[in-house]
Amino acid sequence: MISSDSIDRIMEAIRIEEVVGEFVQLKRAGSNYKGLSPWSQERTPSFFVSPAKGIFKDFSSGKGGNAVSFLMELENMTYPEALRFLAAKYRIELEETQMDPEKQEELSIRESLAVVNAFAFEHFERNLWDTETGQSIGLSYFRERGYTDQTIKTFGLGYSPEKSDDFLKTALDAGHKKENLLTLGLAKSGEHGDYDFFRGRVMFPIRNVSGRCIAFAGRTLRSDNKVKYLNSPESELYDKSNTLYGIFEGKRNIIQQDMCFLTEGYTDVISLHQAGVENAVASSGTSLTPGQIKLIKRYTSNVTLLYDGDQAGIKAALRGIDLLLESDMRVKVLLFPDGHDPDSYSKAVSQTEFEAYLKAESKDFSDFVLKVLLSESGDDPIKKTDASRRLLESISKVNDHIARSVYIERASKQLGIPEQALYNELNKILRRNQQQRKSSEFEPSPAPDVNAPLPQQKTQEEADIQLYEKEIARILVNYGDKEFELDLINEDQQMETMKVSVAEFILHDLETDQIIFESEVCSAILMTYKLSVDTETALPDPMVFINNPNPALSQTIAEMIASPHELSGNWVLQHKIYTDLETDNLKRTVFDPLMRLKLSQVRRQSRLIDAQLKVATSNDEIDLILADKMRWDEKKKELTSYFGTTIL
Ligand code: CTP
Ligand code: MN
Repeated sequence: MISSDSIDRIMEAIRIEEVVGEFVQLKRAGSNYKGLSPWSQERTPSFFVSPAKGIFKDFSSGKGGNAVSFLMELENMTYPEALRFLAAKYRIELEETQMDPEKQEELSIRESLAVVNAFAFEHFERNLWDTETGQSIGLSYFRERGYTDQTIKTFGLGYSPEKSDDFLKTALDAGHKKENLLTLGLAKSGEHGDYDFFRGRVMFPIRNVSGRCIAFAGRTLRSDNKVKYLNSPESELYDKSNTLYGIFEGKRNIIQQDMCFLTEGYTDVISLHQAGVENAVASSGTSLTPGQIKLIKRYTSNVTLLYDGDQAGIKAALRGIDLLLESDMRVKVLLFPDGHDPDSYSKAVSQTEFEAYLKAESKDFSDFVLKVLLSESGDDPIKKTDASRRLLESISKVNDHIARSVYIERASKQLGIPEQALYNELNKILRRNQQQRKSSEFEPSPAPDVNAPLPQQKTQEEADIQLYEKEIARILVNYGDKEFELDLINEDQQMETMKVSVAEFILHDLETDQIIFESEVCSAILMTYKLSVDTETALPDPMVFINNPNPALSQTIAEMIASPHELSGNWVLQHKIYTDLETDNLKRTVFDPLMRLKLSQVRRQSRLIDAQLKVATSNDEIDLILADKMRWDEKKKELTSYFGTTIL
């Protein structure tokens, strides 16, 4: 037990922005700090820390509390774990009543496993530094690889001798339970009794973000051993897909540099660190997972992949790129010359040369994809087409529309393909992705019930969405360059009245809410306007559309221009808005269909969620869906409040 006096002293020492700042990249916002929520994948910060009050509030997940609850929530620490973490951080000595064996029983499984791993960590480290075989074999191996003593200590490297029970015996003698040793994979049971899992290996402890040792990797010292690395199995402590090697050692630097190098191996991370590049982590033997990306995202949105230049490395890079882009990361790629990995290359050249190489050779993902794919294709037009499609696949993962159009512009230049052609293809991919997402949302549903009524052709929401998309496109075409006044809160938290054009506003608003038009025609109109707004050139003359070879497009536009209010006739009846006032009250004209479109989308989403709830099978699943429902309901409330109660 931790004495209450110690707890008081910890509480006094805590500065919440420092504690949270270890896990979340914080920026000052007035007297508060803000950052990206560590609990959701968001682009705009909704996570706030108030130093004055000592609290955090995460608006995306609704979580909030003090520094201790932050650690408990984010790191799954228990209350005592959080206190110990804070005590270590602020160098406060803990008055703790000695733990007797009975108390240990009571500790959660996780905690007792962690105690065993901490014991193993120290044991392997002691072996390396303080035993004869450790020094002559393990330590000399690391030194031969060029690691300094400092580096070896920073990463807590260790050694396990070529004996069958070196660790097992020590651990049992110290009173650790065999069961825990087996669970953690530190020992194995065999026909001839129990034995150490790691034998004759140098040891790499794997730590979680708070520095706790959650697993080990043991590297063989024999070149004839087929299994180069042995890794701890997954356990209550170790979840491979949510772990990155080096995250604890590197996180501070990742925040400082606002960038993270992602490598393939343990030794790459260590060598980079020693070469002064401390912001590196490895996905250690697994291919990159969304959980690992989320972990990086707590500290930065910029990732540079450092992979081998061989086929396997290229393939891994291509896969990693898409996954990272989907999570709104900015991605660069850097390949090392023939046969080199970061570890070997950092030793082959001087530190300055190495740093210069990292700077010079980091390629934006799109340049990388094109370089790799085009180098294979030569002049073959079919291969060139395939390469363009592959690049567009990646670009389609980019959620930021402006960034997307920049990539298209660049690709157009590099490939010699007109931008519009690329946009057309991109739109196809986007629609396909959207359909896939939609159908996968339905996935949990059971086999279709033959007696169930046939699904309706189109739901009310679907019809509404189509209507509002068309209405928004119509307003864009008719009033795109008209301006209206908008009240905004500027960076200094002051109210400011700004003039914006209809086109700018609509495009910005759709982008903010990540809305992609589902109708092909409307989407094409939108894209064309977007292009000219992004490039700050004059808005397209609607007449240009009329000559468009796509009959659906030219016809729709023609209708929109010929009788601008025709659609709105319907509008008036439906929603009692007087279209004569369209230009008089431009703001209202623009706001209304945008809001209605959003509301329809939210309604459709709610309905989807209700359908999911009906077929949910486990409590966990229901909880997840309910949490999702709450978020959408919140959104619905927000939107309906815009309209007031009369219209709806
Ligand atoms: N790996 C593993 N198990 C293996 C082989 C590899 O878990 N049997 C993982 C390790 O995380 C390793 C990474 O894959 O770090 C990359 O493998 P490799 O390039 O073979 O190892 P290096 O880290 O480069 O090790 P070394 O430089 O000592 O050869
Ligand atoms: Mn290597």
